[in-house]
Order: sequence, then C-alpha cells, then structure tokens
Amino acid sequence: MTDLKVRKLPWEFDESVPFQWNRENPRFGIMMNAVSFLAPAFERFIVSSTRAAMAQITDPATLEEADAFLRQEAIHGRAHRNHTAALVKQYPGLKQVLVDLDASYDRVLKTEPLEYHLAYIADIEATFTPLFSVMLNHQDKLFDIGDHRVGPLFLWHFVEEIEHRSSAKIVYDAVVPSPWYRLRVIPKVVAHVMGCFSMFCRAVDTHVPAADRGIDACDMIVRPKRLTSLFERSELPGQFEGVPRTEVITMLYRLARAQAPNHSPATEKVPAFASEWFEAYEQGKDVVNWYRPARVAG
Ligand SMILES: [Fe+2]
Ligand SMILES: [Fe+2]
Repeated sequence: MTDLKVRKLPWEFDESVPFQWNRENPRFGIMMNAVSFLAPAFERFIVSSTRAAMAQITDPATLEEADAFLRQEAIHGRAHRNHTAALVKQYPGLKQVLVDLDASYDRVLKTEPLEYHLAYIADIEATFTPLFSVMLNHQDKLFDIGDHRVGPLFLWHFVEEIEHRSSAKIVYDAVVPSPWYRLRVIPKVVAHVMGCFSMFCRAVDTHVPAADRGIDACDMIVRPKRLTSLFERSELPGQFEGVPRTEVITMLYRLARAQAPNHSPATEKVPAFASEWFEAYEQGKDVVNWYRPARVAG
C-alpha cells in the first residue's frame, strides 16, 4: 500500500510578493518562478494522464499509489497557481503565458497516445530526486536567503516530489509494456519542456521590468553549445551558486542514471532535509511559514 500522504496546506500569496524573490541569486529565483509557471500545466497533464492510466490498472496497490500521486500533484498545481496569480496581478502581461502553457500541454494530451503521456511524466519525475536533492542539501544557500513566503512553497513541493519519486514509474510500468519506450522518447520530451521554459523566459523579459526581474530570463535558456555554462563562473551567481562543482557533476550522473529502464527511483538517496521537513510536519510545525518563527525571534 502507498506511503504517500496527501497534505492540504493553506498557501496564500498577495501582490506584495516580489517577482524576484531571491535577490542574492536571481538565476535561482527565476528558475523557481519557472517551476511555478510550468507546474500547473504539467501537473494538470499528470492528473489527466494518470486518471486515464488508472482505467487500465486492476492491481489495488498500484491504483492506490496512482490515486495518491495525482492528488499530491493536483494540490501542487493549485498552490503554484496561487503564487502565479499574485505575480499576474502585478504584471498582467504574464497571464497569457499561463494560457499558452496550458494549451501546449493540452496539445500533447490530444495529439499523443497515453503511453507517451506516461513516459513523459516518468522521464521528468525521474529527474526530480537528483535535482531537488542538490537544492535541498544546500537549502541555506538557495532558499533561506529569499523571500520567506515563497521559499517554503518550493521546500514543500520538492520534498513531496522526493516522497512520490517512484509513483510515475509504477504507473508507467503498469500500463506500458516496453521499459525502453521511455528512453526513446526522451529527446522529444526534453524539447517540449525546453520549449515551455523558453516561452516562460520570453514572457518574463517582455512583461517584467528589468529592475524587478534582476536578470534577463532568456539568458538562462540552455542552448546545446552552452551546456558547458553549467561549469562556468559568470559575474552573476549561477543557479547553483555555492554548490561544489563535484556535487553538480554527481547530479548530472544521477540525472542520466535515473532514465535507465531498470533504475528504481526507490533506491535514490533521500536528502536529510526531506526527513527534517516530514518530521516537522508530523510534529505540527507551520510548514507554510517555515521561516517565520526564526525571523520573528530575530
Ligand atoms: Fe508536483
Ligand atoms: Fe511529481
């Protein structure tokens, strides 16, 4: 039976939340804002696809896992919509990119078969534990320095992504006969995600004044010849500023390994912060206001 917990948390954001919530690391701030803008469309896609997959699954344990998975994702999507709504109120031009992102995922739903939807979700979800583990291992350098209302949204989302790291593959394996299909579609999946990210970056540079965004978002679009930029230092902090280069290289290895058909996400090492967060939640800590007690005390 599933170990996933469906947690409903009262995320609320108003117009005082700054677009650039992380002035000390504006690249990371923009990267996380991209998560907030892409998540609602992607997570709606997960909910629709997983529901369709459940119609073909008979095993009760798999059905229970799938149901808890889609419930977590639906709640993530709603929370990020609250965040983006507060930003759209300040920069109304950003509204269109949310519509465009929803339309882009709707097109994938309409034009591709269910096995592709499930492969897409399993491929992307497999990247989350390696990627978010690095971020959570360096929470002090990446999240603690930002706006105290925005950081906790990502802490919660990322620990739950790590919690349900096996779910998408469990659903994929239950419905799609070939474990290799997932690998074959990676280039197409990556192209779509990168297209969505580029859409977001162009919208940010068009509708958010330079002083408010801190950097040009389009500078973050990874082009093939610029993959090496992950290892370069620039005048601006990279999104993984403060993270040792060896950890970034290990993350890239883990990202590649996560796509292997026989890789089990359950075996991924879980960051200590995830356990700390789950324990805090179980003890009744106000995880929405993760930073508030320290700041009030200070
Ligand atoms: Fe999610
Ligand atoms: Fe997820």
